[in-house]
Amino acid sequence: MPKLFPVSPFLLLCFLLTLPPSQSQPARFMYTGFRNLNASNITLVRTAEIEDSGMLRLTNETSRLIGRAFYPHPLTFRSGSDGSRSSFSTSFAFAIVPEYPKLGGHGLAFTLAPDPLIPGAQPSQYLGLMNASMNGSAVNHVFAVEFDTVQDFEFNDPDDNHVGVDVDSLRSSVASTAKYFQSDGSTVAFNLKGGETIVSWIDYDGPSGVLNVTVAPGSAAGLKPAFPLLSLTIDVPSIVGNSAYVGFSSSTGLLSSSHYLLGWSFALGAGAAESLDLKAIPSLPKQKSSMQKIRNVAIGTSVAAGLLFVVAAAAGFVIWRRIRDEADPIEGWELEYGPHRFPYRELAHATKGFGDKELLGFGGFGRVYRGVLPGTKEEVAVKHISRGSKQGLREFVAEVSSIGRLRHRNLVQLQGWCRRRGDLLLVYDYMPNSSLDKLIFDQQPGTQPRLGWAQRFRVLRGVASALLYLHEEWEQVVLHRDVKASNVLLDAELNGRLGDFGLARLYEHGSNPSTTRVVGTLGYLAPELTRTGKATTLSDVYAFGAVLLEVACGRRPIEPKAVPEELVLVDWVWALWCSGRILVAVDPLLQGEYEPTEALLVLKLGLMCSHPDQAFRPGMRQVMQYLDGDMPLPELPTDGPPVDYWARAQCFDDFVHSYPSSDGKASTGSAPIGRQPTGTSPLVRPVNSGEGEDLV
Ligand SMILES: *[C@@H]1O[C@H](CO)[C@@H](O)[C@H](O)[C@H]1NC(C)=O
Ligand SMILES: *[C@@H]1O[C@H](CO)[C@@H](O)[C@H](O)[C@H]1NC(C)=O
Ligand SMILES: *[C@@H]1O[C@H](CO)[C@@H](O)[C@H](O)[C@H]1NC(C)=O
Repeated sequence: MPKLFPVSPFLLLCFLLTLPPSQSQPARFMYTGFRNLNASNITLVRTAEIEDSGMLRLTNETSRLIGRAFYPHPLTFRSGSDGSRSSFSTSFAFAIVPEYPKLGGHGLAFTLAPDPLIPGAQPSQYLGLMNASMNGSAVNHVFAVEFDTVQDFEFNDPDDNHVGVDVDSLRSSVASTAKYFQSDGSTVAFNLKGGETIVSWIDYDGPSGVLNVTVAPGSAAGLKPAFPLLSLTIDVPSIVGNSAYVGFSSSTGLLSSSHYLLGWSFALGAGAAESLDLKAIPSLPKQKSSMQKIRNVAIGTSVAAGLLFVVAAAAGFVIWRRIRDEADPIEGWELEYGPHRFPYRELAHATKGFGDKELLGFGGFGRVYRGVLPGTKEEVAVKHISRGSKQGLREFVAEVSSIGRLRHRNLVQLQGWCRRRGDLLLVYDYMPNSSLDKLIFDQQPGTQPRLGWAQRFRVLRGVASALLYLHEEWEQVVLHRDVKASNVLLDAELNGRLGDFGLARLYEHGSNPSTTRVVGTLGYLAPELTRTGKATTLSDVYAFGAVLLEVACGRRPIEPKAVPEELVLVDWVWALWCSGRILVAVDPLLQGEYEPTEALLVLKLGLMCSHPDQAFRPGMRQVMQYLDGDMPLPELPTDGPPVDYWARAQCFDDFVHSYPSSDGKASTGSAPIGRQPTGTSPLVRPVNSGEGEDLV
């Protein structure tokens, strides 16, 4: 049984009442693993618990958790009669195991805070350190070094794998992608959320105020790299106050990871913290579970015999499953007119054994391979979806059958499927002209556009009619949930065809129904969807609006690298609309060769569809009527979308990849330290102001 030590306010009160002043507490400690620790050594808050293995698990893979572990006594960060700054040094080992290998959620932070309970703190991108309304306020008294696995545009995060120093704000004072320096000055990048042991060293020199943050994977032998990743001068005691608690805070959002602490060494005062012995700290979850299995089997017998047994059992199981898979029970209730079921061998042959050479790309749900069917020599695209679960097989096959019956000239036709163990293979028509985003973006400036205006307009109409079919014209409502330019493929005649429809729902069968999961792509996610996790036809419309703008402007919905601040396309187009210059937004690569009335229609319709408030978005039938000119587009307000919508929403903590805040009001109160608040109007985002003007 894992031991759990939730800290009640009462308990904390007891500490405060019974403990002598912090000076008398030991200022050095070293936890080589957390086994045998109790409330007198460590304070566990919320979901944090110590596992039998000795690892301290801050959070598991459940949505919206906060877990913290703090040293139970406050420490004093000033010393001597003159109250000069104390130095401190710490070294700790952690591991982050995300629910999905490439999607972390959200991270952990070494933290100095006035109270381990941090009242009002939120999970998700706030890492359990503060809340949306307090972000940036000096009353937090929070100093943190974050190990952040989600890119929050709201906080200017550089990427989804970075280390940053946070002063009362999740907008880091300095941040860098995770890497370490070798002695020759070259850097090695590594993945914080790869499930491996990561070691970090944080050294603060009180007299000079220099703070160094160093981080390296345990695979680099646990040796401290020669140079720190981040180094800055900072007055820590003036941020946290004279005394503060030291520990770790971690959180999950709609996306989640298990965050583990494996060992922690800390020293207050001059001198480095004792170094951790990586061989002595508990091993990682992955290794742990296989070790445990082996141990369980090997009880009462020799390890060798146990191993033999495991191997034999595994082989037997595989053979048994092969046999069972051959005589599959699905045939009986597979729908008569459902898509064809391919034998695995045929698809393996078609794709040359799923070789890298045939890899067309990575779709939302898995890899896509080009294949040539052995019989007909027909070209196909084979999507390989790893489900890792065999639950809900019946629903799953029913779902595939229903997707297979969807037919529309602007949908990529599903030809058939194949199931193998937990994996699923879906066979689609091959689209020779790749995807809409490639045609729009992979282009040298100055060359002829690969898609002219007329073709772009036709593709957009095609996608709209496919969405109308899914939403309103088929026997049941099908939500797409991942409408984006890279999911629009072009056939030989450059017709736009929507791919990946129905997959989101299919993917959900077999996953835990109690957890809502946002499926979708950053920049195309409707704000209410990221808040509630509930997809609707109107969240598809929002994403379609983003595609309309993207195709008309030749810009991605969010350009993180735009100067000087990330460009949020919809905000930019709104700003141009309000200033009466909306056609400035049209893709400059078209060199003015477009139909102005159509371009105006597409841009305005894009703004309507991507309206932050779903009540203002049109349904797909209306969208179709606007595009066909059967109905005039209503006029848009020239003062932009309702500004208070964002303030009312108040739920930025729910954002998966934190939707870039269009809200000047979300962080009211005092300005973040060291940073002036940017544009006050939600529409005037600093973009290259001169840009486009010379193109009119
Ligand atoms: C906690 O652990 C320490 C040793 O680490 C021990 O001395 C102390 O008695 C324990 N306290 C409780 C309440 O178990
Ligand atoms: C944010 O945190 C502060 C305390 O730091 C608390 O007073 C306030 O109620 C919290 N706000 C929300 C919206 O939770
Ligand atoms: C911080 O790093 C710099 C550069 O490597 C080094 O000179 C300095 O001694 C370090 N300071 C601390 C407190 O570790």
